[in-house]
Amino acid sequence: MAGRKLKVIVTRKLPEPVETRLHELFDAQLSERDTPMTRAELGQAMQRADVLVPTLGDRIDAGLLGQAGVQLKLIANYGAGFDHIDVATALSRGILVSNTPGVLTEDTADMTMALILSVPRRLAEGEALIREDRWAGWAPMALMGRRIGGKRLGILGMGRIGQAVARRARAFGLQIHYHNRRRLHAETEAALEATFWESLDQMLARVDILSVNVPHTPSTFHLLSARRLKLMKPTAYIVNTSRGEVIDENAMTRALREGALAGAGLDVYEHGADINPGLAALPGVLLLPHMGSATEEGRLDMGEKVIVNIKTFADGHRPPDRIVPSML
Ligand code: DGY
Repeated sequence: MAGRKLKVIVTRKLPEPVETRLHELFDAQLSERDTPMTRAELGQAMQRADVLVPTLGDRIDAGLLGQAGVQLKLIANYGAGFDHIDVATALSRGILVSNTPGVLTEDTADMTMALILSVPRRLAEGEALIREDRWAGWAPMALMGRRIGGKRLGILGMGRIGQAVARRARAFGLQIHYHNRRRLHAETEAALEATFWESLDQMLARVDILSVNVPHTPSTFHLLSARRLKLMKPTAYIVNTSRGEVIDENAMTRALREGALAGAGLDVYEHGADINPGLAALPGVLLLPHMGSATEEGRLDMGEKVIVNIKTFADGHRPPDRIVPSML
């Protein structure tokens, strides 16, 4: 590699400062388009690139990895989630995969908190009333929501983002409950005043608001199954800023329609932009277009992480944010 700049192919339009830096450092092929590459284009890119910089939505499966050129040695994902990449197959073919953890934590936690506040207080319904010219002025009984303070927030997945949500939620007087593969260290748990539930089922039956903060992996797919959703209180709300696949979306839609759940604030969906049409018809549901981490600062930080990962690799070291098998 010495003496030759790495061929870095980026699949999507990125913020200008990130693209400029990529150009300066590498033999970078940037994308003019803000739409995903086709599968054929992705395949061609993987035949030519030393480093591929994909994003969410670029499905890099075993089939595509099988077509990759021998020179492809790093997939430096622009994003924290890597469930769109078959990392196990990539690693078995000697291709490293890195992501951009940490820099999306606070923005995503802010958005989660925004949904936690907005759904029980019916913000979307109130706004629609004004935009649709249906508001006739204040009324004592109008748009009554549910108070946040004193309620039990269940956090499913107490990693970086889950903990950042907990910190915010405490300031709003919510009681923090959580389920996680591993229990937090006692000091962290004490600082968050968080109650650990080894049994997800038991936690679900007791919380007023559930925030989904686990990544999508084979073991979290439909973790909130039809059976588990039925355990929740009919007055409970669900907020999901992680990955749609964690919830059985059809079962959740049914539960919301039937009044078995009070409402939901969703930023992510089981089938990407192909959202269950029943959801949009429900008044107690606030739907966002996967914008949890969409801040200018965050997107620049993500670019910086991608660059550091590639640069470290180019210098002959292992990228700091490489995905290791225990994370799969
Ligand atoms: C990620 O980086 O995985 C986020 O979901 C994008 O918001």
